[in-house]
Amino acid sequence: MSEKFVLATHNAGKLAEMKAILSGLGVEVISPAEAGADVEVEETGSTFAENAMLKAKAVCAAAGLPAIADDSGLCVDALNGGPGVYSARYGGEDLDDRGRYMLLLSGMRGQTTRAAHFSCAVACAFPNGDTLTAEGRCDGAIAFAPMGDGGFGYDPVFLVPEKGKTFGQLSAEEKSAISHRGKALAAFAEKLGTYLQK
Ligand code: IMP
Repeated sequence: MSEKFVLATHNAGKLAEMKAILSGLGVEVISPAEAGADVEVEETGSTFAENAMLKAKAVCAAAGLPAIADDSGLCVDALNGGPGVYSARYGGEDLDDRGRYMLLLSGMRGQTTRAAHFSCAVACAFPNGDTLTAEGRCDGAIAFAPMGDGGFGYDPVFLVPEKGKTFGQLSAEEKSAISHRGKALAAFAEKLGTYLQK
């Protein structure tokens, strides 16, 4: 029999990605709605790992099932690591993805230090109080202009030097092979596999 885990997200893409990665472990991933645990969690942590754990614990408590959550964002060296945990809210509620990355580009105008990285933390909370965490990071640079229209968020302005392309110019497969989220999920799947064998 497969074990049920709730993925604390409203994002259908993330749910599908997690289902595919964890199916090999005999783990069934369901949405908060399917678990009757559709709770709103305020992301009040100061790190990606803290926010991921806040979400995982809240959904685990509401569902009475193990819950997995992730939190991610873009950290720009010239902006002292910002927007970081505020990536989704950068520039305020009224901006869409394009508005946010255009604001980032204008804040970086004239800036020669372009180094940046994406970070992703995955957390899992079990009803018995056990927790697991994993992190992934992808280093790159902020482009001088948007390129490509694939992906989401800041993808068109995040340049991967070894590819000579932005995330927005990569296919979904090419991106997840090197992305912060791909790395964090792979590390998490390995930890979960070890945990489930115990
Ligand atoms: P969350 O982890 O889904 O809350 O995402 C936080 C925010 O970080 C997103 O809304 C995006 O703005 C940004 N972000 C996280 N991962 C990516 C990515 O892979 N590409 C582009 N933007 C991302």
